[in-house]
Amino acid sequence: MHIFREIAPLKAYLNQQVLMGKTVGLVPTMGALHSGHLSLIQRARTENDVVVCSIYVNPTQFNNLQDLQKYPRDNARDFKMLEEALCDITFCPSDAEMYPETSLLKFDLGDLDKTLEGEFRPGHFSGVALVVSKLLNIVLPHRAYFGQKDFQQFKVVTRLRDELKFNTTLISVPIIREFDGLAMSSRNSRLDVEGRRRAGVLYQSLQLMKTGLIRGQSFSELKTEAAKLCLENQLRLEYLVMAQKSDLTIVQHVVQPENTILLIAAYVGDVRLIDNLFLA
Ligand code: PAF
Repeated sequence: MHIFREIAPLKAYLNQQVLMGKTVGLVPTMGALHSGHLSLIQRARTENDVVVCSIYVNPTQFNNLQDLQKYPRDNARDFKMLEEALCDITFCPSDAEMYPETSLLKFDLGDLDKTLEGEFRPGHFSGVALVVSKLLNIVLPHRAYFGQKDFQQFKVVTRLRDELKFNTTLISVPIIREFDGLAMSSRNSRLDVEGRRRAGVLYQSLQLMKTGLIRGQSFSELKTEAAKLCLENQLRLEYLVMAQKSDLTIVQHVVQPENTILLIAAYVGDVRLIDNLFLA
């Protein structure tokens, strides 16, 4: 596996590959890799000749300095995992390489940025849009892969691709879960044993609501039940909503099950976790 820390040599290498007719798949990550990331790499491996994984903890998408400082980092472990997953290239730039000057650009993503993650993490998606634009411009991938856990992020990146005309096919890859349903996340490594046990309640809440909705129970009744479950397990709920998958409009009743998603964000201690579940 080749490890690049600078943009220019990576671009030169990839340009050569493309001139030889090879396709390039990009898996953007912030490192602290887990099986969820590996499923993205595996998918990229089956669909492209050259697989690039970027590892960069992007400071502009953190609205909370403590969260940035505490974000898990372990490059040596990540490189080993990527090597074993047959990743071809890791792009692991420094802050100076990605942001040689303080960035002036801010993305206004309209309604997409005002709801859910956008509401609770102001500026987060502007930072994501900025770094993803940089990565797409640097790597010029034929395909780029994102985890479904960050459902709203995928909407943002899709909008970015469409408006800025990036020539990249975007692929959302299903969530990989732990034995108790907890969605794989780099942040899970920050949970202590008790927190880890309680974190399973995010998925339990989503499941409880999905089952109830399918049986015809009302959303508000189910939400009260799920919120109680969260409270009993000392989860600090930020949101637990039902929305249209197509545009993330919040809804109170199921109209089209195949266009309905349940989304949750909650703190377990000082670790903020998110998850989601499709109704059908
Ligand atoms: O999903 C993530 O890990 C990050 O938001 C991303 C897409 C790598 C941008 O920093």
